[in-house]
Amino acid sequence: MPNDLNHLDAALAAYPRVALLEGPTPIQKLSRLSDLPELNGCQLYVKRDDLTGLGGGGNKLRKLEFLLGEALAEGADTLVTWGGLQSNHARLTAAVAARHGLACELILTPSAVRTDDDFCHNGNVLLDALFGAKVHRLARGVLPDAYATQLVDTLKGQGKRPFVMPLGGSSPRGSLGYAACAGEILRQAEALDMHFEQIIVPNGSAGTHSGLLAGVTLAGASTQILGYSVLATEEQAATTTLEKTRQVLQLLDRSTTLADHSIRVDGSQRGDAYGAPTEAMLEAVRLLASQEGLLTDPVYGGKAFAGLLAAVRRGDYRAGSNLLFVMTGGMPGLFAYRRAFE
Ligand SMILES: Cc1ncc(COP(=O)(O)O)c(C=O)c1O
Repeated sequence: MPNDLNHLDAALAAYPRVALLEGPTPIQKLSRLSDLPELNGCQLYVKRDDLTGLGGGGNKLRKLEFLLGEALAEGADTLVTWGGLQSNHARLTAAVAARHGLACELILTPSAVRTDDDFCHNGNVLLDALFGAKVHRLARGVLPDAYATQLVDTLKGQGKRPFVMPLGGSSPRGSLGYAACAGEILRQAEALDMHFEQIIVPNGSAGTHSGLLAGVTLAGASTQILGYSVLATEEQAATTTLEKTRQVLQLLDRSTTLADHSIRVDGSQRGDAYGAPTEAMLEAVRLLASQEGLLTDPVYGGKAFAGLLAAVRRGDYRAGSNLLFVMTGGMPGLFAYRRAFE
């Protein structure tokens, strides 16, 4: 094992963490897709972070390992977070709270682009209720962070000990989950005797991207991280990702620096707005399902995989490149977007 991975492990060990994953998630080859002539000989692999085994799975469990560690260290008894109505982070926070006997308060904001019945009541919304979370559905225009501040005061007034997580769980502490994932991927690549030139992820609140980039940077690996922004514009997402990656590195090793040019964000797949379906997303979700039997979500993974498909079809990568797409979960979103697939 290269020394740099030991360095990453040692840095991560300084932070309280509660195990929520069963072990490493698999890396699988997309053999049928990789054989398509239009993909120009690129070898596509997926990191199955959709297979994390609690609450329907997804990337947020890796962040929640560190966030729950922090919350329990502070003696919290209630987890509070916010996000869009179909937030996967909210759903998994509710599942984690249920598993650990904590209360959960979710602040959910309406979508600017979808108001249909499936979106408002199915998918993650249905699951939040099953996990027993208390849901605060905000009216349009109410700011969730301001609402959270008030809610925390109210909960404290009731003698509760709330722990607040930001949008997407993407605080520097939460993002450590993906620095740990970077170490996991580098070890798996070593065992497979292969090198991934690029790891491709959706970029929403930027914690997944930042954590991975901090992890590979600290480990001294040459693998690049490319994020397809689905929430912010390309420029905003790049700025946020740089800032967050530096914050994660501050937690891990103050002496490790990050060059501005390490940030690779592509905003071409966002479409009209966060959560607005695009033709390319629909095609990507259908292709992964029909050719590989894999399910990705319409808001994050579908858009990021659409970006990867466009790039390999354009010939952006040389033949034989090994590319790793992180499947971040979010499958319940498919049921909320039924109409988009009709
Ligand atoms: C399924 C899924 N994939 C990707 C992301 C993006 O991760 P991040 O917010 O860390 O950028 C999210 C965030 O909500 C998500 O729910």
